[in-house]
Amino acid sequence: MNESRGGVSRRGFCAAAGVGLVSIGLGACTETGGQDGGTAGDLGSSGQPDLAQGQGNGNCAAGVNAGQASAIAAGAAVHFTDNQSYDLFVCRDSGGLYALNAICPHAGCTVRKATSQFFCPCHGATFDLNGQHPTSPAFSPLDHYALCVDAAGDVIVDFNTTVSATTRS
Ligand code: FES
Repeated sequence: MNESRGGVSRRGFCAAAGVGLVSIGLGACTETGGQDGGTAGDLGSSGQPDLAQGQGNGNCAAGVNAGQASAIAAGAAVHFTDNQSYDLFVCRDSGGLYALNAICPHAGCTVRKATSQFFCPCHGATFDLNGQHPTSPAFSPLDHYALCVDAAGDVIVDFNTTVSATTRS
C-alpha cells in the first residue's frame, strides 16, 4: 500500500492507532501513532499578540499549535497532521523539543515511530529518532522544523521553516 502526502490513508493510520482528542481540539494519537487536527496558523490558547515572543527557534505567530509542551515526554514522538499542509512529529529528547517532517523522502509515505527509530511502512526505510541515518531506499534524512513554546506553554511548529538536526527548544 502506498501512502502519499495528503492521502486519506494517513488519517486511517492515525485512526487505527486508536486515539482520542485533547481539549484544545487537536486529535491525539499515542506517541507512536498519529494526531490529526490542528489548524495551520493557530496561535496559543490565549490568543494574545505577545505570544509571538516565545522561546525557541521558530516564530510563535506562524505555525501549527501542537499542544502543551509539558505533555510531550522525553522519548516521545507525537504525530500531528491536517492531511494537507503538514504531517510532522513533535519529539523530545534529553536536549529538548524538536519537530520532524513525517513524510518519507523516498516516495512520500508517512513514517511511524518504533521504540528506537522511525520506519517507513511502504518500503522499509528507517531513520534514527533524530530523523537521521536513513536506510535504503531512502537516502535523505527527515527535515527538522522550527518550533517555539509560546507564553501559554504551547508548542508552535513553523513547518515552513527548516532548521538543523541539532536544533532544540
Ligand atoms: Fe518510505 Fe519508500 S516511501 S521507503
